[in-house]
Amino acid sequence: MELKILILPGDGIGTEVTIEAVKVLREVSARFGHQLKLSEGLLGGTAIHQTGTPFPDETRRLALEADATLMGAVGLPEFDNAPPELRPERGLLGIRKALEVFANLRPVRSYRTLLDASPLKNHLADGADMVIVRELTGGLYYGTPRGIFGTGAEERAVNTMVYTRPEIERVSHVAFQLAAKRRKKVTSVDKSNVLENSQLWRKVVCEVAMGYPEVALDHMLVDNCAMQLVLNPKRFDVLLTENLFGDILSDEGAVLTGSIGMLPSASIGNKRPSGAFTGLYEPVHGSAPDIAGQGKANPFGAVGSVAAMLEYSFGLTEEAGAIYRAMESVLDSGHVTADLKGSSNTGQVGDAVCDSLATVVAAK
Ligand code: NAD
Ligand code: IPM
Ligand code: MN
Repeated sequence: MELKILILPGDGIGTEVTIEAVKVLREVSARFGHQLKLSEGLLGGTAIHQTGTPFPDETRRLALEADATLMGAVGLPEFDNAPPELRPERGLLGIRKALEVFANLRPVRSYRTLLDASPLKNHLADGADMVIVRELTGGLYYGTPRGIFGTGAEERAVNTMVYTRPEIERVSHVAFQLAAKRRKKVTSVDKSNVLENSQLWRKVVCEVAMGYPEVALDHMLVDNCAMQLVLNPKRFDVLLTENLFGDILSDEGAVLTGSIGMLPSASIGNKRPSGAFTGLYEPVHGSAPDIAGQGKANPFGAVGSVAAMLEYSFGLTEEAGAIYRAMESVLDSGHVTADLKGSSNTGQVGDAVCDSLATVVAAK
């Protein structure tokens, strides 16, 4: 099969983990006889430096042309005080919107060998296995009006939280379809005790649920959810929520695995006629300026995002499975980075996954 993939390394450790993810992508493609057609583009701070904008037209063109896009992370501290349209993060919002990837799947699970890397008591984290389905192209991130207006005592800032019925419906269908293949439970998270936006969210989710009688639905307010995620994480199967709540809750979920460096993500849009999805694949973590350039970044989230890409965009479940098995065997062997209490560097972890892939594929 020909795999036409755009690579966007981005900024900071984004570039470091992407190198390892591409290493693994090349290895798995070679072992399974797929032909890789890779292109590379600019996004985020690096793109601002080279082109003056965080999401250059050329990157948009390449992304629309590719079957799937693999991204590292964006963000550089030097842009912390830049105007909104000249911030690296705007590039990320731009590409998500351009690809219309409205559902962001963030699997969160604990690994036996990493239990001691989590600050949670072992019995709480052990066995936790959920997918956060985060709405990705609506809500506060995109609503208008937005901006900072006026000066002095008149200065005010506005963001607008908007959701339309179709936006809630389509992401809800993704969550229910996913739950139907898992433990058949959706927890919808909102703030419907206060926000009209959440009231519509809850109403529409209930309506969509009627089409999935085999899936149980419950609702939770987001403040309680933040607590239940660390108090009783095993109660969650599929957690469905809007854009900002999903952003925050997924970083919290990372403590179950021991490090945010472990979390992959798949952002998917509408199905193409082939049955595959337009997809953007990125680890959940950011550009981590505090450890950038030191070889300390954990590449598992990026490598897991490659596996998710093979599964969702190309339907290559065997190849994805081989990557997951290789990752688990590397975790078991203890070749991990400092965030997981290991002493390997980023490149060594990537190499270990590639070596392990050879064994996994040979054993097949
Ligand atoms: P961050 O995720 O970059 O870092 C948070 C903490 O986790 C840091 O201590 C960091 O060292 C650690 N960490 C993150 N990834 C790690 C990895 N792979 N291995 C080991 N440790 C890891 O979040 P932040 O510091 O709040 O944000 C830094 C920049 O990244 C900001 O500009 C932000 O906007 C951006 N950001 C981008 C994305 C993205 O591109 N998808 C996601 C989140 C944050
Ligand atoms: C994420 C990030 C992004 C988000 C930022 C960098 C725009 O935090 O992917 O989790 O908030 O969506
Ligand atoms: Mn985030």
